[in-house]
Amino acid sequence: MNIEEWEEYRYVEFGINTFITQMKEPSLKKMVEHVCNTGGKRIRPIILLLSSEICSGTYHQSLEAALAVEMMHSASLIHDDLLDQGLIRRNLPSAPEKFGPSKALLCGDYLIAKSIELISPYGERVIKDFGKAGMDMAEGEVLDLRFDKDNFGESNYFDCIYKKTASLFAISASIGAYTGGADEALAGRFNFFGNSLGTAYQIVDDILEFLEVVEGKESKFTSETLPHVYMMNLSKEEAIQKSIDAVKLHVNAAKETLLTFKECPARDKLFQITDYITVDMLENV
Ligand code: IPE
Ligand code: IPE
Ligand code: MG
Repeated sequence: MNIEEWEEYRYVEFGINTFITQMKEPSLKKMVEHVCNTGGKRIRPIILLLSSEICSGTYHQSLEAALAVEMMHSASLIHDDLLDQGLIRRNLPSAPEKFGPSKALLCGDYLIAKSIELISPYGERVIKDFGKAGMDMAEGEVLDLRFDKDNFGESNYFDCIYKKTASLFAISASIGAYTGGADEALAGRFNFFGNSLGTAYQIVDDILEFLEVVEGKESKFTSETLPHVYMMNLSKEEAIQKSIDAVKLHVNAAKETLLTFKECPARDKLFQITDYITVDMLENV
């Protein structure tokens, strides 16, 4: 699967390029270009566009919300690289490495402010979900910072990854649903889909980090990983297997939820994304 060939990917790229072209302040512009235009997978905004389409929305209606989500994500990566002393991200020097911590911090602030501007026309329900996800992400990173390596435990781990990662996936799907005209009950199911997928994705990222097979990413500090949590009571092989089982559980929950949505090409693409960022990434493990 080549996501870069999807029309949703091209819409997102177009939106981001247009935003960067309009920026005036040269130093910030250079940083935003480095952070936003260097090969992210664009998973979250694509989920938003596809969720909207399933609910009969158009990309015209949902693109700015999709860009808001991607900018919030980009800001969170900059701030995460400040916290973890990230050195390499997407095969390039991280923003703090390239521009220094002060400028990187401000670039993250700028992107969050831009994301608020972009999301503001979408009404109270969307804005509240968006704000809540931003707060969850900060709380998740605080939990991550405080983790006591020998005493983190499964429940702290899931709380942490729900907040730092799954929350943004969840609202990408539900905000997409809202922009397509869904009611709260339907948007809630989209939220559950995004939450399940985001949880599975972070566990996969952690398994790869635990096995030291991550490509294009390097940081001085690393987060707690699920296999490491399970190794408190299990052998290494058992801990890895149990983590893979947890991925499958969440992938199945995501897919079962997708099955309840209207059958259409956008839903097929969400099925493909679900495998692409989870089980496909574990193929060689
Ligand atoms: C990285 O997110 C942070 C995690 C949640 C593991 P992505 O893997 O979505 O980052 P990009 O945008 O595709 O580089
Ligand atoms: C995920 O944390 C980053 C955010 C959700 C902001 P990690 O520290 O595990 O992610 P990577 O490995 O740096 O991408
Ligand atoms: Mg990190």
